[in-house]
Amino acid sequence: MTSTTGHRPPDDARAGDRFGRPLRSLRLSVTDRCNLRCSYCMPEEEYVWLPREDVLHFEELVRLTAIATRLGVTRVRITGGEPLMRRELEVLVARLARDVPLADLSLTTNGVVLARHAEALRRAGLKRITVSLDSLRPETFRATSGRDALANVLAGIDAARAAGFRGIKLNTVVLRGRNDGELEALVDYAATIDGEVRFIEYMDVGGATRWQTDQVVSRAEILARFRARFGAVEPIVDDTWAPADRFKLPDGRVFGVISSTTEPFCATCDRARITADGVFFTCLYARHGLQLRDAMRNGASDDELAGLLGRVWSGRQDRGAEERLALRASRGALAAQDELRTNPHLEMHTRGG
Ligand code: GTP
Ligand code: 5AD
Ligand code: SF4
Repeated sequence: MTSTTGHRPPDDARAGDRFGRPLRSLRLSVTDRCNLRCSYCMPEEEYVWLPREDVLHFEELVRLTAIATRLGVTRVRITGGEPLMRRELEVLVARLARDVPLADLSLTTNGVVLARHAEALRRAGLKRITVSLDSLRPETFRATSGRDALANVLAGIDAARAAGFRGIKLNTVVLRGRNDGELEALVDYAATIDGEVRFIEYMDVGGATRWQTDQVVSRAEILARFRARFGAVEPIVDDTWAPADRFKLPDGRVFGVISSTTEPFCATCDRARITADGVFFTCLYARHGLQLRDAMRNGASDDELAGLLGRVWSGRQDRGAEERLALRASRGALAAQDELRTNPHLEMHTRGG
């Protein structure tokens, strides 16, 4: 039974949002802090950080995740900011692995301090790791991320493999004139670690205040470049809802492309995110989210929280990336620096990359 005034039971969300999209994937941002300053995400040195007392405790994160599984979530990805900046992240991983029934528990990290944590993360029950890696050239890495940390990231990847992680994914945001000459080198490097690189189109999200159309290297252009060099580039057909489309070169090498900017996947988007301070967002581009922290700290029951989430998901109509695409020539950065200062929840590093 549904009611137009009260909270709908969470089962309504299982029927999908207004476009029939189910909720399956939850991205948990565990901190807004980061030890890099990538030009496409956190170009400034200083930010307005979330007040410490607002940041959810592990118990609260586990509780919200468990409630989200009642609505259909089966996959959780831990993000940030840089999630390994959160102290004792391994403890959170272990609790999620132990207390919440999940088909997948993964982490997206910039890899800078991964070497120190890989083994403990594996022991705690983390299943998969994705590492952001924009360049294999120390100077380009430094210019893009603001820090001289390529060697640490590569050591982190090695440590993750030594700890038993397999199929490591690499995320490369392709920036024209910066790292777009390294696409093939990155595909080769990924093969040496038995991993897979995904080329990500530069997105006009929160912190990307310097975003400009002409810096985006589109999926079409990436594929055209590989075709020009190697001949056929075959799409790999799989029926997952992962954002990456995968391709195979004639010699068997494989790579992915995430084309959120020029060919968005909103139509099949099954993901939501919770910020480190407990705001539930149903789209990467959403202006407003549902404040769960206050409800939770004011004593809301699990049923009440599930009802809140369910109601928001079943009313969801987001297709943020498609709307951005429709702007065409007038498209620019989503938010200016001033606006981000007054509303840090718009930042990609706050809501989870
Ligand atoms: P897998 O399930 O392993 O494929 O994870 P994933 O690709 O979802 O995770 P990852 O953190 O590696 O995300 C890859 C990239 O996809 C991000 O860096 C973003 O560029 C993009 N992305 C992630 N979530 C969203 C989203 O909700 N909307 C859009 N438009 N893009 C997203
Ligand atoms: N465009 C594309 N991807 C971005 N990320 C952060 N900002 C952007 C952006 N403007 C993604 C990167 C990184 C992840 C944490 O967030 O892919 O791997
Ligand atoms: Fe940090 Fe990731 Fe943002 Fe880079 S993309 S600044 S590594 S949160």
